Amino acid sequence: MRRGVGTSPSPRSLRGEGRGEGRPPLAAQTAARRPGRWPTGGPGEGLPWHSAARVFALAAATGFLAIAALALWPTTDGVRAQPANSLAMLRANFARPTFVPHPADNPPTAAKIALGKRIFEDVELSATGTVACASCHDPRLGFADGEPRGKGVTGRRLVRHTPSLWNVAWSPLLFWDGRALSLEDQIRFPVEHPDEMGSSLENAVARFSRRDSYLRAFAQAFPADSPQISPRTIAQALATYERTLVSPPTRFDRWIAGEADALKPSELAGFAIFTGKGRCSNCHAGFAFTDHGFYDIGLPGSDKGRGADIGLPAANHAFKTPTLRELAWTAPYMHDGSLATLEDVVRHYESGGVARPTRSRDLPENLALSEQERSDLVAFLETLSSETPPQPSREPWVNAAEFASRAPPADTTVVSQVNKHFHPHYVRVRSGQLLTVLNDDTRTHNVRIYDPRFDYNSGAQEPRETVTIRFPGPGTFEAFCAIHPSMRLTVVVE
Ligand code: HEC
Ligand code: HEC
Repeated sequence: MRRGVGTSPSPRSLRGEGRGEGRPPLAAQTAARRPGRWPTGGPGEGLPWHSAARVFALAAATGFLAIAALALWPTTDGVRAQPANSLAMLRANFARPTFVPHPADNPPTAAKIALGKRIFEDVELSATGTVACASCHDPRLGFADGEPRGKGVTGRRLVRHTPSLWNVAWSPLLFWDGRALSLEDQIRFPVEHPDEMGSSLENAVARFSRRDSYLRAFAQAFPADSPQISPRTIAQALATYERTLVSPPTRFDRWIAGEADALKPSELAGFAIFTGKGRCSNCHAGFAFTDHGFYDIGLPGSDKGRGADIGLPAANHAFKTPTLRELAWTAPYMHDGSLATLEDVVRHYESGGVARPTRSRDLPENLALSEQERSDLVAFLETLSSETPPQPSREPWVNAAEFASRAPPADTTVVSQVNKHFHPHYVRVRSGQLLTVLNDDTRTHNVRIYDPRFDYNSGAQEPRETVTIRFPGPGTFEAFCAIHPSMRLTVVVE
């Protein structure tokens, strides 16, 4: 079978390595378990919502501000003709970040990262002692498994394709359907599912507690915790390690950093299609080339994806926008692993896919590419992949935590949602006042608040619809869009 990107022989030829008979069996599909609300106990409690909101608000502000500028991108001539200011805006939009959004209550340390890596690679996490996280998220295969849909310990094909773990630190919600609310929360799904690792974090605690080297490693990683080995610390160590899986800089980053000839003319032409008539950057934006939102891109199938998880028909068939980093190493593609090559992916966008009411309006309409344009677009996508087997980035900022300070809240009772942003995203209202959230965007939104004091769901909020929120009393409330979860809104009710 033809795999990989077709025009990039080095990654493709290396893909087969290490994939022979000796591999441990793949565990089964991750369980579709949905937490009812924001996690308040168990491994998930590791992420206080406000700290996550803060870092994601900052990531959003730095990552997606310049989307409007993309409209300026020419669709015909090359990039060199660009006026300097729109080039500067593009650079801001796709520039590499300067910190990893580690949550405040789970800061990274070298000991914790090393412990997380060790657990990630340890088959003792599974009941049978044969399956590790790394069996399916193989570091040699871009932390994916190279299969359309892998097999679990039961031998059954998984329901969905194993995603790569590049840049998961920036993803507000995990899984193709977003059902896990943080990396700390996500861990229990594969560990506990009977078809997958068939174990539990409690089992892992018991096993690790019998091994001196683990006792020492947990003591170093969690010196102030009691007990030191617990479901929570296992989840925290794994999540901290996963946050260091930042894709390394590639030629594209050199171009963004100002090295004008780092990209060839055909690749630049491909980038112009990507940000122009291909409309790819409507969803694939920011350094990781994802807005972390959920969209129906018209792939056939009965999987309802995000819609089933949040009970919102408007989000049926919607799946999380994946990162486009290191794609040359992570074929096949899509939530069902149905597309084998990047050219197949581009042809899918040209065909438009299944026409149904939920199909995203952000997709290009009637995209028609010549042979040359198609290969330019694929050539551009390949510039986001390393030319030798990728290792997690060693940029100095990757292991450091940094937390944003924020400006004071705005005094307003009206919030806009243009371009997948709450604006303003930090507001102060008086107790008893209503907050009005306009949908002045072109997309359906779904405002949610998961809070023990206030469980709020706007339902599908179509363009031009307005919702008003009455808060139960004073306090700070965190709202987000369940379809575009990088949209975060903090409301201080006084
Ligand atoms: C049997 C193979 C398998 C094993 C073992 C496995 N995973 Fe996964 N993983 C998957 C599949 C399949 C998905 C996608 C499931 C979905 O979205 O419904 C996934 C999704 C994820 C995601 C979400 C990524 C994203 O972008 O949303 C993370 C994070 C993850 N796995 C981490 C882990 C960790 C940590 C372990 C070990 C505790 C693990 N996985 C074990 C197959 C596996
Ligand atoms: C409406 C938002 C949107 C637009 C516009 C869009 N994509 Fe996507 N893209 C997604 C989503 C969502 C997925 C995953 C869909 C799924 O698996 O069901 C995806 C998947 C992909 C993948 C597969 C990645 C992987 O790891 O599986 C590639 C490659 C890709 N898109 C490239 C493009 C290109 C090139 C364009 C422009 C022609 C484009 N996308 C336009 C949202 C979008």
